[in-house]
Amino acid sequence: MVDVGPASFANAGPEEPWQRWREARPATTVLHLDTAAAGRSSITTLRAVASHAEREAVIGAYVAEADAGPVIEQGRADLASLLGLPAAGLAFAESASAARAALLAAWPVRPGDAVAVTPSEWGPNISAFADAGLRIEELAVHEDGTVDLAGLERLLADQPPAFVHLTHVASHRGLVQPVAAAARLCAAAGVPLWVDGAQAIGHADGAIGVDVWYGTSRKWLTGPRGVGMLAVAERWWDRLRIPDNPLGRGALAAGSSPVRMLESAESNVAGRVGLCSAVRDYLDLGPARVHNRLAEVGKLTRLALGDLPGWTVHGSPTAPSAITALLPDQGQDVARVRARLITEHGIVTTHASTLRAPGEMTRPALRISPHVDCTAADLAALRAAIEALS
Ligand SMILES: Cc1ncc(COP(=O)(O)O)c(C=O)c1O
Repeated sequence: MVDVGPASFANAGPEEPWQRWREARPATTVLHLDTAAAGRSSITTLRAVASHAEREAVIGAYVAEADAGPVIEQGRADLASLLGLPAAGLAFAESASAARAALLAAWPVRPGDAVAVTPSEWGPNISAFADAGLRIEELAVHEDGTVDLAGLERLLADQPPAFVHLTHVASHRGLVQPVAAAARLCAAAGVPLWVDGAQAIGHADGAIGVDVWYGTSRKWLTGPRGVGMLAVAERWWDRLRIPDNPLGRGALAAGSSPVRMLESAESNVAGRVGLCSAVRDYLDLGPARVHNRLAEVGKLTRLALGDLPGWTVHGSPTAPSAITALLPDQGQDVARVRARLITEHGIVTTHASTLRAPGEMTRPALRISPHVDCTAADLAALRAAIEALS
């Protein structure tokens, strides 16, 4: 374990109510600024996971799963309401990538069809689209990387792609796409909009009128790892190609939808129970309050680090995202900086390679992604630590 010493950030707590958010989690021995990789779960969530796992051993895994049914269905309804979609249209998966793979297999596209994306698109999504034989078309963007809505409207009118795909909140820097406005344009043109919400759920408003959405539990919702979700708007249900899986979920239950047939049968049920608990915590805090706080945390981070010698903040300092990327200006080895921040200062960040957004990243970045409990003292400690490494 890393010992950060008596003068660590732990002595300078955040303001109420975010102090309570911190206190609801296990005491940490590090300064955790890595929510975009995986957030810190609350003690309630951790207990929900452990308690389900124990019940599996006590009463049998499938009996425990059946008992947990109402909890999981409530969580499904909560998540769907956050997305403005019906609960029957939401399925659990193992990760955002697994959810995207299930959606791509089920969506009625043919090799050669076009998918329109921005240059900042998450790299693995582009690879998955290319692997599916799709043609990648680049959307026009503004200087800050947000999609040019007038350009999108023209594309939809002149050369509509099979679908538009936007990553709502970028992984590699502070960048939030105007997905609600894009959804309105796509709906008017009859072109489906897919949204990668892996970095958005728990971070930004999700009820944006999209056709297809997928995300993950472990980041801003601070749910367990190994759980993802996908959702499809009702107007597309009849078009889905549902894989033949006789050992899977079987026939459609009453009140269910074809989307539920995309849900994995064998799964981390304890993780799903934990996610449902994390979603409850988030709803109790108030999503809008959390989103505003995270936007503020992002701005404070960029303010604290904006003039750090040898580094440049990538993107707009005012992006409403808690993710900040520092680009090395003097050839610093970012992987090494990240490793030394952990071992010498007990500060956890990400080394973000260019593979995250090959369309616009030319250098790896040091990614900083605090949650709502971030303090000025945390940011000062990070700044001092990076300076000390130079
Ligand atoms: C924008 C974005 N999309 C997709 C993913 C993939 O998520 P998962 O690791 O759950 O498959 C990530 C993970 O960091 C991400 O940041």
